[in-house]
Amino acid sequence: MKKIAVYTSGGDSPGMNACIRAVVRTGIYYNLEVYGIKYGYDGIINGNIKKMQSHSVSNILQRGGTILKSARSNEFRTKEGRQKAYEQLTKHGIEGLVAIGGDGTFTGAKVFYEEYGIPVVGCPGTIDNDIYGTDYTIGFDTAVNTALEAIDKIRDTAAAHDRVFFVEVMGRDSGYIAIECAIGGGAEMVMVPETTTTISEVSDYLKNLRKTKTSSIVVVAEGDEEGGANTIMEKVKTEFIGDEKKFKVTTLGHIQRGGSPTAKDRLLGSRSGLAAVEGLLNGQYNCMAGIINDQVVYTPFDDCINKSKPLNKDYLKLQEILSI
Ligand code: F6P
Repeated sequence: MKKIAVYTSGGDSPGMNACIRAVVRTGIYYNLEVYGIKYGYDGIINGNIKKMQSHSVSNILQRGGTILKSARSNEFRTKEGRQKAYEQLTKHGIEGLVAIGGDGTFTGAKVFYEEYGIPVVGCPGTIDNDIYGTDYTIGFDTAVNTALEAIDKIRDTAAAHDRVFFVEVMGRDSGYIAIECAIGGGAEMVMVPETTTTISEVSDYLKNLRKTKTSSIVVVAEGDEEGGANTIMEKVKTEFIGDEKKFKVTTLGHIQRGGSPTAKDRLLGSRSGLAAVEGLLNGQYNCMAGIINDQVVYTPFDDCINKSKPLNKDYLKLQEILSI
């Protein structure tokens, strides 16, 4: 293998740049030519492919976002789109790919590998931490810390005004960010997609809590089955007649996706990027280079996509016990 290319796809996450840097420099270390593809799968289809040098990735380690840009490609979902992508890669002589992203990214990579045999290794880049085959995903730690900082600030104003805040954090299908923020921020309740908490359970819990605590924080993962924080708050406050003005919502949104990556995310991005290139060189294809128990583990894309990574039940219990 002489020429490889790297791309980022799906939602960006802090630490993706560290990962790109590691792929480029590891490739060069092993005498490969490394290409950067902009805008993920759309960039492959459109031939947005440029050769990278060691200096192309200078001064990016500490930056959020992704210098290669990101996109969610509809065209790559079609056979015609993938055919165009294959033609572009052949034209550029690219023999192996490193895909940085989440399960959508890996699904595309897997189909592409199965259809055209282009070797692909993935790096787990998503703030959601919902990828099987790695203890953590690149960007999760930064996102949790960003959300936590916000929750600490909300706590100040909640306490000052005796208010109940519903704080919505990201996590379309998973409660990883929510549970870690809830524990770290001392939230009174957490609502995650993995467990069922009904509106009446929330109301009853808060009513009881208001006998002893003047302010509370409920962390809501955006994918909770009762709806987003706003929907939940509107329903809950109907149970608190006369006290409705005490109920507030803060949706943290995309600030969780940005910012300078933490040391953990820089390290994870760097390790995973290096492991992906070594995987390509050692015939480890159609899999993701994750870190489990501090060791590099290559997990087949099939498992990354289809197996779920359950929330640690101990975390849920911990949050519950410490919130009384
Ligand atoms: O997949 C990561 C994630 O941050 C989800 O938690 C969130 O639902 C989604 O991205 C939002 O992405 P976008 O606004 O880019 O579509």
